[in-house]
Amino acid sequence: MIHELRTPRLALRAWRPEDREPFAAMTADPAVMEHFPATMTREQSDAFVDRIEAPMAADGWGLWAVEVVGGDRFIGYVGLARPGFEAHFTPAVEVGWRLAATAWGHGYATEAASEALRFAFDELALDEVVSFTIVGNVRSRAVMERLGMTHDPADDFDHPNLPEWPQRRHVLYRIGQAGWLSRGSA
Ligand SMILES: CC(C)(COP(=O)(O)OP(=O)(O)OC[C@H]1O[C@@H](n2cnc3c(N)ncnc32)[C@H](O)[C@@H]1OP(=O)(O)O)[C@@H](O)C(=O)NCCC(=O)NCCS
Repeated sequence: MIHELRTPRLALRAWRPEDREPFAAMTADPAVMEHFPATMTREQSDAFVDRIEAPMAADGWGLWAVEVVGGDRFIGYVGLARPGFEAHFTPAVEVGWRLAATAWGHGYATEAASEALRFAFDELALDEVVSFTIVGNVRSRAVMERLGMTHDPADDFDHPNLPEWPQRRHVLYRIGQAGWLSRGSA
């Protein structure tokens, strides 16, 4: 069974076949993919969704499809994943997001990711959740900071799956149970 989550404005739900077309449009958009090595073809995008759906079916949680309640049926994904590479902080669970450019600037990523973190700490009882992105992805780093995640430059790393890419340097953000419980109280 796939856990589905709700926030005041959003539903974090299982993927549906009809999500694939708008997701492919997102992954073909140079603005959405600015901080990734390349845009994706429809075939690559569908294969990416397959790689999201498989662990979600097995675990019951993952990178949920995000819907605006009473609005857009699909604006992208937000949720939890296990990084599929080895680094100094793995094994780990990461919180991540990718939204259509039309859905930026509404607080949706932070709202959905807060609920994903609540699920990670309250229901999965994880000790820690990480997030990472390339150094220059200011919007993504701002989401991490709004979530109360913290960055130690000593954690920065070169993404091992992107050996030929000049932007392979990544920042790592972390939040633990204690940081989650004390959020907003600083
Ligand atoms: C990273 C990404 C999800 C961030 O999206 P975002 O819309 O900037 O982030 P949020 O959803 O938290 O929204 C915050 C913005 O909404 C604004 N906002 C408007 N209404 C709001 C509301 N009701 N509540 C909260 N914020 C609101 C905030 O002021 C903020 O605006 P600002 O960017 O001008 O400061 C998005 O840029 C994206 O999908 N990028 C491409 C994929 C990507 O790089 N993913 C990460 C790879 S690691």
